[in-house]
Amino acid sequence: QQITEEVVAFSVPSYACQRRTTLENHNMVLTDALSLLAENAELSEEDGRGVAFRRAAAVLKCLPEPVRSMAQLRGLPCLGDHSLRVIKEILETGASSEVESMRESERYKALKVLTGIFGVGAKTADRWIREGIQDLQQLRDSEQTLNRAQQAGLEHYHDLNQLVTKAEADAISEIMERTVISVLPGAQMTLIGGFRRGKQTGHDIDFLITHPEEGREEGLMSKVVSCLEAQGFLLYQKTTRNSYLESSSGPGRPSSNMDRFERCFSIFKLAKEDKRGETLMEDGAKTLNGDPGSHSPSSGQSQASGDRKRASEDGAKDKPSKHKRWRAVRVDLVVSPISQFAFALLGWTGSKLFERELRRWAGHERSMSLSSHALFDSKQGRYLRATSEEEIFAHLGLEFIPPSERNA
Ligand code: CTP
Ligand code: MN
Ligand code: MN
Ligand code: MN
Repeated sequence: QQITEEVVAFSVPSYACQRRTTLENHNMVLTDALSLLAENAELSEEDGRGVAFRRAAAVLKCLPEPVRSMAQLRGLPCLGDHSLRVIKEILETGASSEVESMRESERYKALKVLTGIFGVGAKTADRWIREGIQDLQQLRDSEQTLNRAQQAGLEHYHDLNQLVTKAEADAISEIMERTVISVLPGAQMTLIGGFRRGKQTGHDIDFLITHPEEGREEGLMSKVVSCLEAQGFLLYQKTTRNSYLESSSGPGRPSSNMDRFERCFSIFKLAKEDKRGETLMEDGAKTLNGDPGSHSPSSGQSQASGDRKRASEDGAKDKPSKHKRWRAVRVDLVVSPISQFAFALLGWTGSKLFERELRRWAGHERSMSLSSHALFDSKQGRYLRATSEEEIFAHLGLEFIPPSERNA
């Protein structure tokens, strides 16, 4: 008796913001491969190609079960020839030769290590590689001048390439909450970014701060930062006014409160949990770069040359010990006026691809322009107000997708 296997093709809407993408991914091998191609394109400053691979990976992330045959993919959006070729090879042989050789290439490895330094982007890494710098030791030995961010990034390289756990996010949330309320009673703080989407780990922790009374949030960021500094929590911080005002030659004039949008990129000094001499951090010894420390300094001791401070110096002062009693964690802070809160919340919850797709949907399908500040309707020639994410989705004519299903 002949068994006929019925091929049921998947069906998926084109925009990631029309789809529900949970953290449950049934096609991790395929999406990891496509994500690596995306990452490599981004590191090579080929952003268009990067987005194409990100979109392809996102389509596979929302499928209800593992892909078994190419026939199931027929009619799916966002799968270009290149992505399909990669998928086919993985289905047939278990791996993609292109992806594997990229992963092993000296250039990819060097780009990965160098851009793993906080404050170093693809451009800088590429220039260093052309000047013969492939790893951290070569960078330290070189005459390259580093800006303040890069110095901090190099000093805390090991810690910052260690994934942040939910427990650490909770510990810092508590510190932040206390600090924000002490400098401005009534202020409200929300965990955003990957942790709001339900992720159990992240590369940083993101917070959005506001106050229910419009205008009361003015000057809040500098007070919060000063208060954190006074408590000794900040290893590094750079506060920037949002560039929204400067780049506001777009449709319509922003209202005068737009320039209050501030953000702060910081590095937190988080005390390690002391349980029988064990630490929070050593439990989850998974690193962002996959390779735990072939290039990172051992036992948190920075090999910084010359007059640069050793990373372990501060750590010894509370309690003399050869083990560092704290770890560095990246924290992003954003302050928004309450009138823009819903837009800021939606814009900073991510994922990055989900955000990009929301903006693409708004522009291409609705002639609207969406940012983390506002939604402008070009046809009506006016801004559309919203006090919740649900309202913004409704303005856009999209079904509401909760944060836990925005993991595109
Ligand atoms: N974002 C932004 N402008 C930046 C950096 C980030 O608007 N300069 C937004 C991104 O679009 C994203 C959110 O902030 O929606 C969080 O960014 P990020 O922390 O980089 O990513 P996560 O999704 O939180 O992932 P991870 O867990 O790795 O931190
Ligand atoms: Mn499932
Ligand atoms: Mn984040
Ligand atoms: Mn962030």
